[in-house]
Amino acid sequence: MPLVPLAIEQLRPYEAGLSAEAVRERYGLARIDKLASNENPLGPSPLAVEAMRRSLDRTHLYPTGGLKLRERLAGMFDLKVQNVIAGSGSEGIMAGIIRAFLCDDDEVLTTDNAFIGFQVLAKSRGVRYRTVPYTDWRYDLQALAGAINDKTKIIYLANPNNPTGTIFSRAEFDAFYEHVPQRALILLDEAYFEYARQSPRYPDSMHYRYDNVITLRTFSKVYGLAGVRIGYGFAHEELIGNLLKIKLPFEPSSVAEAAGLAALDDVEYLHRTLELNARGMRLYREAFAALGLEVVASDANFVMLPMASAAVAKTVFETLLREGVIIRPLGAFGLPHCLRISTGTMEQNERCLDAVSRALAHPHDHGSER
Ligand SMILES: Cc1ncc(COP(=O)(O)O)c(C=O)c1O
Repeated sequence: MPLVPLAIEQLRPYEAGLSAEAVRERYGLARIDKLASNENPLGPSPLAVEAMRRSLDRTHLYPTGGLKLRERLAGMFDLKVQNVIAGSGSEGIMAGIIRAFLCDDDEVLTTDNAFIGFQVLAKSRGVRYRTVPYTDWRYDLQALAGAINDKTKIIYLANPNNPTGTIFSRAEFDAFYEHVPQRALILLDEAYFEYARQSPRYPDSMHYRYDNVITLRTFSKVYGLAGVRIGYGFAHEELIGNLLKIKLPFEPSSVAEAAGLAALDDVEYLHRTLELNARGMRLYREAFAALGLEVVASDANFVMLPMASAAVAKTVFETLLREGVIIRPLGAFGLPHCLRISTGTMEQNERCLDAVSRALAHPHDHGSER
């Protein structure tokens, strides 16, 4: 028996977007604009920062597993605290779901090119990981329903989806749900729901609860707290109860919990974020289309651009990098011809557009042969 299980040995590690520091160092640039990880360009919620500062003098004490935040969220959504879990980012909770509910013979089902964080976590468990293709860059829920078998245990749906930004409607979900057996768990990842909920098509899953659905949300995106690691989930109390058994007992940290609680009060910051993002998305849709690019219809804080080829995508990515604009190439997602670009401040958005326009106009200036 090898020391390292085969599933881990063969696992491709999570490749996060490049950090600003790494690019600054590599190219000796003074200014870096990171539009690669769907972060909030306004920085963290000021109320959250204040609350974290205030929480620091109690950090000699163990935290309470996010109890206050769970209570607050339960109140906000008219649920019981037993229906709510808090953790180290939504990925922290996702890791618990994989650990709690998957047995060796179970299978995971999702779309091709799913959110990379989920791919890595699910594959690390060594179970069969099955996917169906997108249709027009949207989840093909009909095909997914048809692919469910006796072994399907977890069905992962991100709405909006990363990396495409596309959403599915409530009617599409309802039709899909009819085919899902009660022994299969639907993991509904709503990391970007605050951006999407303005859309009349968007099915806020809090308005329809099923016993085998777990909804995950996060403070990493719209509240600008990606570095703090705080996320939450809603589900039937039996699911939450079992998840709580295996959750690391002292996650989230007391500092992260304080940040989350205060962020929920920061309505002004939330509105500013959404307003800026709406302007950025409008600009991206119009300006990238004007450059002759396909812009996948996104309801999140990023757009995906399928390029003419993987070589063109690589050239654009590398040209932008040299100019200090970091975007996300999607090779790790299995889409080497696609790029994903987050909205930034309007100045950052304009700078990025100019750089893309130059890269496309002079594709050979920087070469992509390396
Ligand atoms: C679809 C999706 N789910 C989850 C996450 C991770 O969120 P968190 O920072 O809460 O772990 C991301 C972050 O990029 C995401 O895009």
